Amino acid sequence: MQKYLIQGGSRLTGDIRVQGAKNSSLPILAATLICTGESVLHNCPDLLDTEYALKILKYLGCKCRREGGTVTVDTTAIARSEVPDRLMREMRSSIIFLGAIASRCGACRLSFPGGCEIGQRPIDLHLSALQQMGMQIEEDHGYLNCSIDGGFHGANILLSFPSVGATENVILAAVKAKGTTVITNAAREPEIVDLAGYLNRCGAKISGAGEGTITIEGVEVMQPCEYSIIPDRIVATTYLAGAAMTGGNVQLLGIDCRHLESILPIFEEAGCIVRRYNNAVSLSCDKRLLPVNLIRTMPYPGFPTDAQAPLMAMMSIAQGTTVFVENIFENRYKHAIELQRMGAHIKVEGRVAIVEGIRSLHSAEVSATDLRGGAALVLAALAAEGASEVANVHYIDRGYEQFEQQLNALGAKITRAFCGD
Ligand code: EPZ
Repeated sequence: MQKYLIQGGSRLTGDIRVQGAKNSSLPILAATLICTGESVLHNCPDLLDTEYALKILKYLGCKCRREGGTVTVDTTAIARSEVPDRLMREMRSSIIFLGAIASRCGACRLSFPGGCEIGQRPIDLHLSALQQMGMQIEEDHGYLNCSIDGGFHGANILLSFPSVGATENVILAAVKAKGTTVITNAAREPEIVDLAGYLNRCGAKISGAGEGTITIEGVEVMQPCEYSIIPDRIVATTYLAGAAMTGGNVQLLGIDCRHLESILPIFEEAGCIVRRYNNAVSLSCDKRLLPVNLIRTMPYPGFPTDAQAPLMAMMSIAQGTTVFVENIFENRYKHAIELQRMGAHIKVEGRVAIVEGIRSLHSAEVSATDLRGGAALVLAALAAEGASEVANVHYIDRGYEQFEQQLNALGAKITRAFCGD
């Protein structure tokens, strides 16, 4: 197990190029299975989660290679349509492979993805939608045996919640289905638009991605393609929060400001100076942060749940009280307990967290509890006085590429050590 040793008190200043979006790269890696041949994906972040996805593709028979930020996947020789438990357990969002494998192979067997640190992570919306498109599903000792006699057929799918993963699974099943599929109450995240962009370049006929209703006209032939993944809006938000908390001045390059429309106004309400450019944004903050009245997580284009933890760290040193309401996941405040060990004044009651800002956090030994909570603790340690430790860095490695290297290039003082050290 590894930990970060962090010396707090340095301002983050300078330029940083933001990595490709983890939550785009994972469904697009799964989508490569739908076409036979070699897809080339640029700006694909090198993360534990993308490594897990590549392990699944290799297990299925694909040839995969990475050269820097470019990943090549050759799906010519698919030999299996099963994902074993040991691979499913590494990443619960592996459920996204279900629609792609079934579309390519006509069947799929995979184990139930477990819950994770932030909640139960049910998949009922995925399964009921795919069943409406012709999939038969049989539960067998923790495994799902899925088959589609004659392939998927189009259907009108109404999602009771705009689930990102369920929207993606339906799109992956629908692109080569017989007939047309219409998804109502679809997720509108930029990562959905990116998945549709990759698939349409392969020859799919998807319209409405990014809106509440998506129409997919099934096609017979699709070809692999070369595609560049969008930047990661949550990683971008994390770096902006680090600059805000340390009184720094940071410019993020290679980002799409449209993806941050529900986030940048919060930094401005907190007193930061934010400047938007074509594909960059800069943030500076030279005085104590102001509180933000209310931060409610919502499906896109609302405030993203993945940004809740980094923003809670930021609000913990604001000059007043901020109320958070976490509407997406039922157990996404674990980082609050660790922030309290650093002196934060946070009261959690169900989905509500009340953060009463203090002048400064103090150093402590804390443990990452999940991906975004871990990143939040790193930001808190950067802003705190003294030397802190953040354990369970593997959670952070799932979603942040070269995290300590990027932060140290901005002036942070972080070293990675083994927990036994
Ligand atoms: C995606 O997860 C992201 N992961 C999550 O990012 C993100 O937090 C989430 O979308 C919301 O934006 C990836 O894209 C790999 P959902 P996903 O299905 O698809 C309920 C990160 O930190 N639900 O939109 O699993 C579910 O319980 C990760 O990068 C059902 O009830 O999210 C949750 O309350 C964390 N039944 C809500 O919907 C279902 O069948 C949102 O889930 C599916 C979901």
